[in-house]
Amino acid sequence: MCSRDFLRAKTGRRKLSMVTCYDYTFARLLSKSAIDGILVGDSAAMVMHGHPSTLSASVELIRLHTEAVVRGAAAKFVVADMPFLSFRKGPAAALDAAYVLMTAGANAVKLEGVDGHEDVIQRLVQSGIPVMGHLGLQPQSVHAYGGFRVQGRSDDSSRDIARQATALEELGTFAIVLECVPTSLAQQITKALRIPTIGIGAGAGCDGQILVLQDLLGLNMDFRPKFARPFLDGARGVLDAVAHFDEAVKAGTFPATEESYS
Ligand code: KIV
Repeated sequence: MCSRDFLRAKTGRRKLSMVTCYDYTFARLLSKSAIDGILVGDSAAMVMHGHPSTLSASVELIRLHTEAVVRGAAAKFVVADMPFLSFRKGPAAALDAAYVLMTAGANAVKLEGVDGHEDVIQRLVQSGIPVMGHLGLQPQSVHAYGGFRVQGRSDDSSRDIARQATALEELGTFAIVLECVPTSLAQQITKALRIPTIGIGAGAGCDGQILVLQDLLGLNMDFRPKFARPFLDGARGVLDAVAHFDEAVKAGTFPATEESYS
């Protein structure tokens, strides 16, 4: 898979599947799957490090997670997130950040929004770096929204998101994540664009879907947004396994003779 295959998938009406991943062990597992792409999202700050938002993710943090993921899934198409403000300090700083992530092994970078950093997107694309856009709910703007809220519900806001999607396509992005927007808006944007849309909380009309892996696996007990269908009761599985280990240790049945060295 490469960034051009995203366009080919849309032309061929083939849906695209992506998941986030932040570590080597899960990347190894994903390398055996048919998933089309992996996002080393800045959601790592929340999912892996327990921060309340993605604002704490730094270029260094995403670099470390990207390297781990690429070690585990070298053949997969890996997109690394450009963290908060890393692309808002002008093209030179953005190119430096993208350099770190691409030399960590990423195949593309993703950044939120478009207004005010059109020049950055253009420079990245002209430098041969595939860029994925991200519109709708942009978690790095959580404080401007006053919380994680569905975007594009009013006429003005939905027109504005559609305008930004067209701008991103014109700037040369190869795909756009649409997060938490009404299904009808996502459908309208998907129809209007040549490049694929990858939805999360954006309904079934997008060209592809992405989920946070821990949500997909049902590992997140405290947070279950309506769009995050758990495809496994991972939390139950983990808790059961740890309870069995605990019981076995305390009953003296673990380790058994065959699990010990003579
Ligand atoms: O960081 C992330 O996990 C993301 C997805 C929600 C698309 O940007």
